[in-house]
Amino acid sequence: MTKIAVLVSGSGSNLQALIDANLSGKIVGVLSNRPNAYALRRAQQANIATSVIEHKTFPSREAFDAAMHQQLQAWDVDLVILAGFMRILTPTFVEAWEGKMLNIHPSLLPAYKGMHTHQRVLNTGDRLHGCTVHFVTAELDAGQSLAQGVLTVPRFDDAEQLADRVHVLEHLVYPQVVEWICSGQLNYVSPQQVDFRGKPLLKPIQFCQL
Ligand code: GRF
Repeated sequence: MTKIAVLVSGSGSNLQALIDANLSGKIVGVLSNRPNAYALRRAQQANIATSVIEHKTFPSREAFDAAMHQQLQAWDVDLVILAGFMRILTPTFVEAWEGKMLNIHPSLLPAYKGMHTHQRVLNTGDRLHGCTVHFVTAELDAGQSLAQGVLTVPRFDDAEQLADRVHVLEHLVYPQVVEWICSGQLNYVSPQQVDFRGKPLLKPIQFCQL
């Protein structure tokens, strides 16, 4: 059974979606860099072990990442899920979890890497928006995309309304991708190749709400 750790910094609605999905893997721990993250409460309510490792208390990114790495190893984790985890990871940490660490980003990557994606989409006037689940590589939001939730941007949405809509899609797409990995349907081969049901995945699998 795949042992999963979820890394969080905030509300943890994606964590909740993963908990509610009854995955064939098991979430063995939730790690937060912020002691007051609501996600920790969600984990406790689901009887999942939690760990708070406050980045502020470490002298460097390297030292913080080393502490996280130690906790993940103590939990004997196979898969690391970033779910609203708001720290940039060091190349050493990312390499240690190559092919075993996923992130969800609130845009249709490669468009809109970085922050404030919803407002940027509105500013540009794009018709399509959504979220992307991807493997994590040292370059920010640049690992191979596995799946995307796609929606049409409603004409009068503000950034908050649009974020809410994207969240609904995130809660659908992320558990599905994690389950594909847990059930051996989605396999990391190399930084350039992921296999889905035995064949190389050439483009992200799309979930459309158009
Ligand atoms: C999501 O929008 C996700 O795409 C981004 O951080 C947010 C986390 O939300 N990476 P939540 O904490 O899961 O509610």
